[in-house]
Amino acid sequence: MASLLNSVQMGLAEAYINGLEIPDSLFRNLINQSMPTLFKSWPQLLAPYEWVLNESDEIAESSQELMEIQYDRPQILLNHMLGDWEPIYPKYSMGLWDNGAHNLEESQKHHIDQMIERLEIEDGDHILDFGCGWGCVANTILSKFPNVRFTGVNLSHLQCEYMRQKMKDPRSQLSSGRFQLVEGDLNKVPFTEKFDKIITVGVLCHVGNLTALLQRFSQLLNSNGKALIHIITVRIPNNMSSGFTHKYIFPHGRYWNHDAIPSRNKDMKTIDRWYINGNNYHKTLTEWLTRFDESQHLVSGLDYGMDYARFRRIWRFYLLLLGTIFASCDGEFNGNGNYLLTHA
Ligand SMILES: C[S@@+](CC[C@H](N)C(=O)[O-])C[C@H]1O[C@@H](n2cnc3c(N)ncnc32)[C@H](O)[C@@H]1O
Repeated sequence: MASLLNSVQMGLAEAYINGLEIPDSLFRNLINQSMPTLFKSWPQLLAPYEWVLNESDEIAESSQELMEIQYDRPQILLNHMLGDWEPIYPKYSMGLWDNGAHNLEESQKHHIDQMIERLEIEDGDHILDFGCGWGCVANTILSKFPNVRFTGVNLSHLQCEYMRQKMKDPRSQLSSGRFQLVEGDLNKVPFTEKFDKIITVGVLCHVGNLTALLQRFSQLLNSNGKALIHIITVRIPNNMSSGFTHKYIFPHGRYWNHDAIPSRNKDMKTIDRWYINGNNYHKTLTEWLTRFDESQHLVSGLDYGMDYARFRRIWRFYLLLLGTIFASCDGEFNGNGNYLLTHA
């Protein structure tokens, strides 16, 4: 049944990618009609492959392929889609709208502020960010805490190039001498020192082995250190993925069920957890889609390794699909999770 559903979804996705004209409203209706039944009565159908339910050998799987098809995309495209502001830079994760944000930039600032509070950051901390994007969390935290030191890890070469430019720009906190950038795979990066805090934002959907990741965290954290995980999550008994996202957007990407982190308490234990309603990510993705559409004339000539029309339809399908699913059942099933952890 799961394979059958996956084939239907792939059929629709590939027809759209190949040029099928279907109005966004009809597409959204289709998702809105089907997702509540799947979430409430048939959640196991949302795990189309065995690997979605099991832990992988490596911490993160298919990392190089992920960089090629998702993260090492032209910077101009991503600046337009995500926004390129001071001090937050492009931020490729949920914006927080629940606290009254009026626009995307404000929602991203509110989200970082909320994580600073939840992680109980203190001036003087040395913080590690696993999968640091373009340095949005680093630059914001460094601007608020004059004695914090920050280390960011990222495998995306183009995102690291963006940060290296900022590290030479005297206006950026990344040039303060308190920021260290490590370009590398979180599976392999070696560290010689321990950290007071670890933060990771929107990255664990690329992690296939949570147990191994949490063991790594416990080796990297000082004895009284804390870690904050911000992650897409789903409030069903099993993890979720889709054939379309696996093939075109996030190879081996999976959305962990809401209990996946607290249930692995061997090396690290969850001392607090929060569910952030899916409407926050729905609004963020809808903003990204609008900005993506509006910037077409500026980005259509860039190199995508395929013709722009095809690339545009793949990414439109992705932004439309995820944006709609997060809003389904009023955001109560698919949202984001925050977990605060200490040594077990
Ligand atoms: C969804 S983005 C989130 C970026 C950033 N945390 C933010 O909130 O804007 C995921 C990030 O994880 C990085 N990433 C994914 N897999 C990785 C790996 N195996 N090693 C290091 N970084 C990785 C990507 O390059 C990207 O920067």
